[in-house]
Amino acid sequence: MKSLIKDPSLYKKGLEQIYWAERSMPVLLKIRERFSKEKPLKNVKIGAVLHVTKETAVLIRTLVAGGAEVHLAGSNPLSTQDDVAAALASEGVYVCAWRGQSSEEYWSCIDNVIKSSPEIVVDDGADLHGRIHMKHPDLGRKIFGGTEETTTGVIRLRAMEREGVLLYPVIAVNNAQTKYLFDNRYGTGQSTIDGILRATNILLAGKTVVVAGYGWVGRGIAMRLRGMGARVVIVEPDPIKALEAYMDGYYVTSMSKAAEIGDIFITATGNIDVIRKEHMLKMKDGAILANAGHFNVEVSVEDLERIAVRKRVIREYVTEYTLEDGRRLYLLAEGRLVNLVAAEGHPSEVMDMSFANQALSIEYIFINRDRLEKKVYNVPDEIDRNVALLKLEALGVEIERLTDRQIKYLNQWAEGT
Ligand code: ADE
Repeated sequence: MKSLIKDPSLYKKGLEQIYWAERSMPVLLKIRERFSKEKPLKNVKIGAVLHVTKETAVLIRTLVAGGAEVHLAGSNPLSTQDDVAAALASEGVYVCAWRGQSSEEYWSCIDNVIKSSPEIVVDDGADLHGRIHMKHPDLGRKIFGGTEETTTGVIRLRAMEREGVLLYPVIAVNNAQTKYLFDNRYGTGQSTIDGILRATNILLAGKTVVVAGYGWVGRGIAMRLRGMGARVVIVEPDPIKALEAYMDGYYVTSMSKAAEIGDIFITATGNIDVIRKEHMLKMKDGAILANAGHFNVEVSVEDLERIAVRKRVIREYVTEYTLEDGRRLYLLAEGRLVNLVAAEGHPSEVMDMSFANQALSIEYIFINRDRLEKKVYNVPDEIDRNVALLKLEALGVEIERLTDRQIKYLNQWAEGT
């Protein structure tokens, strides 16, 4: 199969980008070193649907070093880094991805991955898993297993497991502690702000920023916004998380109330219609709307289109919608993941751990392919802890070791006051 990318001549720039990412991904490079020697994925065909970024390239190179044949498509129509796609294609990876795809083009690239008859599938958002289950169940029954990178994808896979329709085992990479505690929190926290600033170049100090969702992503964003002097308002329907947000010192309220006071709105919920017409109609002139969740459903673009009398793109990734009474709302990145569309996604340092979990989970699936059931599994604890240890080692951090007496104390119940 031939690669389908924007411009093969961009490969040199892409190779430099990958080189830059590799400098900050020591854990994955260490895994690659072992994979190069042991070839644990020799002749395994891997189908991957991931954001095609310089960090993803480092993962793909690692899988190839382990002996795999990789077919890659993008996991969002607007997130592909075309130079990186060209670089990977120049190295013999089958890539079907370019920035600015239509919905049909996006799905046709996922179909290309499916046509390669992968034995292991790697997904970010579960569009690949969903498509295999809905349209290619025969292929699904032959697949050794899959992995899933993100919260939204894991939610969809758990629904499939509950309904008893899952056709192969899946490892929820998202749920590794060395993934969500760092990637979801610090990765999204920083890269979402990066995307908003690159798109708008606004000052955050003194702005009222409404963050919808207080999961790991929302709290990362809130924490970093506070650090830059914004007044942060949290909208969260879960009572426990809402209480946490309150005691973390944020102003907590409903979207209906927040709509009236926010200068900037950021959605990070994984849910649909979080910001809709009734909220938009209450917003201040100049309010900025951005999404950090996986799909472009959190801000209802449909509602925005319906209530606007005029729409124009005023800067790259900034669309101005003028309402009937003259107020203007600004939607960033068409309501898609602002960090990957308007910036470069998470920094390499955190993707190092996320993708180390991916590489080791893929190897685990292949080794245990005859033993695993059609279930959603967590990343094995040994892998999670090993990734943390390797990262600490690479960072030069020495951690405390328990004495034998301490270990014994923690394992007994008789000794007290
Ligand atoms: N998801 C978020 N940031 C990413 C990145 N830099 N590469 C791949 N997937 C991502």
